Amino acid sequence: MSEKRQLCLSGKGVTKVFGHGRKKTVAVNNVDFEFYSGDLISIVGESGSGKTTLIKMLLGLTSVTDGEIFFMGKKRDIRSRKNKKEYWNGIQAIFQDPYSSYNIFSKIDTVLLDCINMRGGRRFPIKKKIEMMREACSFVNLKFDEMTNKYPFELSGGQMQRLMIARIFLLRPKILLADEPTSMIDACSRATILDYLLKLRDEIGMTIIFITHDMGLAYYVSDSVYIMERGKFVEYGSANEIILNPKADYTKQLLDDIPKINNPWEFSRNRRPAETGAS
Ligand SMILES: Nc1ncnc2c1ncn2[C@@H]1O[C@H](COP(=O)(O)OP(=O)(O)O)[C@@H](O)[C@H]1O
Ligand SMILES: [Mg+2]
Repeated sequence: MSEKRQLCLSGKGVTKVFGHGRKKTVAVNNVDFEFYSGDLISIVGESGSGKTTLIKMLLGLTSVTDGEIFFMGKKRDIRSRKNKKEYWNGIQAIFQDPYSSYNIFSKIDTVLLDCINMRGGRRFPIKKKIEMMREACSFVNLKFDEMTNKYPFELSGGQMQRLMIARIFLLRPKILLADEPTSMIDACSRATILDYLLKLRDEIGMTIIFITHDMGLAYYVSDSVYIMERGKFVEYGSANEIILNPKADYTKQLLDDIPKINNPWEFSRNRRPAETGAS
């Protein structure tokens, strides 16, 4: 690539310690990372390795015990409410359980309308707002006319997660943190969600940080992969480097855990992950 790659989120020595004394847990232990604009970056690790804690620090929901986070090249300062709100214009998240990050008494069109209002569309004529909601729904292949007046609990898990992506489509953050967004939905919807993450990257240029415990999924979608073990990054590199030439024992172990039977991924050197054709 000839154009200069822009660093959008990076960290130095980022650490999170819960508790103290004998009850101390170092959930994230002195990690460095550099995430570039327009990439889809996967963070792969087993349950308990510190992935969600890192995501919460990146989002500013949990304080950082030690280290620094840089956003768009500048040291992040979100101590004031105003700064934090501004930061959230640029960075948003979707979580494992799409129902949990949702007011279940809010109708679906209200949820989408809130996103438009939050992005300065409060005074738009209603016709324009409906057009925008329609576009957001069609981005994730949901029918807006069937969504209006429904409540979240009337949708399936897969539909809910698509709706969360429709929200992101309207909010247009620079960076989307996706914390195991496919792990609570059926296998059939899983690939679809990944495809929408790729679509956000490719059509909008969003930077996506995708958290998973599944190495196969990471390879399918990623530009680069960070491997996390017990709070540390043990290895990182391009998806091909990590899969074809893993260095850390832990990475090799994760690769061994990918089911081999009917394995849809064929690891060859010259193919981009998005071209696997797996669905
Ligand atoms: N609020 C908390 N208080 C105490 N310990 C926590 C808290 N959140 C997470 N942990 C601990 O931090 C470690 C990493 O957890 P987590 O970030 O949720 O891992 P992952 O998302 O990779 O499964 C675990 O040992 C977990 O028990
Ligand atoms: Mg987690």
